[in-house]
Amino acid sequence: MFFKRREKNNGCSTAGRPISAQLANVKIWGHQIEKVYSSKKGEYHALEGLDFEVLDNDFVCIVGPSGCGKSTLLRMIAGLDFPTGGVLMIDNREITGPGADRGMVFQTYTLFPWMTVAENIGYGLRLKRMKKEESEKIIQKYLKAIGLEKFRDAYPKELSGGMKQRVAIARALANSPEVLLMDEPFGALDPQTKSQMQLLLREIWQVEKPTVIFVTHDIDEAVFLANKICIMSANPGKIIKEQPVHLPYERILELKDTPEFFELRKKVNACIKG
Ligand SMILES: Nc1ncnc2c1ncn2[C@@H]1O[C@H](COP(=O)(O)OP(=O)(O)OP(=O)(O)O)[C@@H](O)[C@H]1O
Ligand SMILES: [Mg+2]
Repeated sequence: MFFKRREKNNGCSTAGRPISAQLANVKIWGHQIEKVYSSKKGEYHALEGLDFEVLDNDFVCIVGPSGCGKSTLLRMIAGLDFPTGGVLMIDNREITGPGADRGMVFQTYTLFPWMTVAENIGYGLRLKRMKKEESEKIIQKYLKAIGLEKFRDAYPKELSGGMKQRVAIARALANSPEVLLMDEPFGALDPQTKSQMQLLLREIWQVEKPTVIFVTHDIDEAVFLANKICIMSANPGKIIKEQPVHLPYERILELKDTPEFFELRKKVNACIKG
């Protein structure tokens, strides 16, 4: 691998950044990322020597054993936490905190219980002080996309788990984030709702084209959704393999029964076990 000479870029060093990454349309780039948690008991190396690259508009899934640092990595990309070593960049700038360019969907339901579905979706737009007519158009668009137009005035407690997650996704997308970060968003859903949500997400991605980084424990889910799967190992956490997913662009549920799908699943499983 070729590395570029140390140079300044938007005030950040890009030392060590591979030339290939600079030529390609790279959105997020991490090099030798380290995360050490310190406590009275001592230090814990959650991530070490982690290299990571996500192209603009790509759909990347991250899989790996529990505790390997998937959420830690995602939180750092969101700017909610920071590496203790290495470089982590978005659009050639070091990540120094959260930003409107990134939206996050968590595993647990994080809707505001005192707000209706429409108010939850429009939350970020209100923060931006967007005009009411304009934000209403966006809210309508996403209510339609997630099939909850009739529930616009319902409160989260009146919704099922799948419905709540649809609203959480709509809320993240309503702000038009360039990057959508998702931490096991469908982990708590039943298999049927999960499949529907996967179809919906892939559909939304095809239309809106955000860059998606999606963490999951479910290998089938990763193969179905991703264009590339990053496989992590634990102790310390790092990416051990990047598996491209050459499945048709249009993903339909029947794909899960094809030999190509089985083959990919087998490869990813073998890598995780290995
Ligand atoms: N705030 C913290 N303080 C100390 N250790 C932490 C902290 N957050 C995470 N860790 C440790 O870092 C490691 C990685 O945690 P992380 O939550 O990123 O794993 P994960 O891959 O998302 O796991 P899971 O699949 O179970 O969600 C774990 O061993 C965890 O105990
Ligand atoms: Mg996690």
